[in-house]
Amino acid sequence: MKLITLLSILSLSFLIACGGGEKKAEQEAAKPANPNGLTDFEMEHGIGPVKEELQLGAIDPAKVAAGEKTFKSLCAPCHKLDKRLVGPAQRYTADRRSPEFILNMIMNPDEMTKRHPTGKKLLAEYLAPMSNQNLTLDQAKEVLDYLRSVAKEGHEKNIEAAPIFSGQQK
Ligand code: HEC
Repeated sequence: MKLITLLSILSLSFLIACGGGEKKAEQEAAKPANPNGLTDFEMEHGIGPVKEELQLGAIDPAKVAAGEKTFKSLCAPCHKLDKRLVGPAQRYTADRRSPEFILNMIMNPDEMTKRHPTGKKLLAEYLAPMSNQNLTLDQAKEVLDYLRSVAKEGHEKNIEAAPIFSGQQK
């Protein structure tokens, strides 16, 4: 009888110890991982509707064509591919940023330039806010494939990268 009590106390305390450990791990994961108050995911991939990593397939020519149309009507007033305009040159954005970051920047530029360190740095350099063009996620993904295709073309044709910041930082 005594042994059973002892055993159940032991296993109970074991359970408590494990449970406590798990809870601590959960708190660690939810805790913002840096002084900006952003999660690790947000630091790498931006803040916005895209909250997990995407599995990107090969560049899709149909999406590229649709994305190019969108880019030329909604983005070109502020962005050229190989030269700074109101905003940074877009030729090599797909090399510089993750796909998720690009989608979040397109769909949530206000928050990106207020809360994300890279967005803040860009705003400090360009001094004009990027306006939200209210693209759907599908439209933004088409623009993403367009940006992937122009980066690929740039590498194939050895097109020089325009500097993004006046200094040399990325
Ligand atoms: C009103 C001008 C304007 C429009 C329209 C605009 N942008 Fe921007 N964009 C900017 C500016 C300026 C920045 C730099 C951040 C800032 O100052 O807000 C920027 C930044 C970006 C970045 C981040 C670049 C990097 O190096 O991380 C991406 C990507 C981008 N824009 C894509 C687009 C796309 C795609 C569209 C069209 C759907 C678009 N932008 C429409 C002005 C604009």
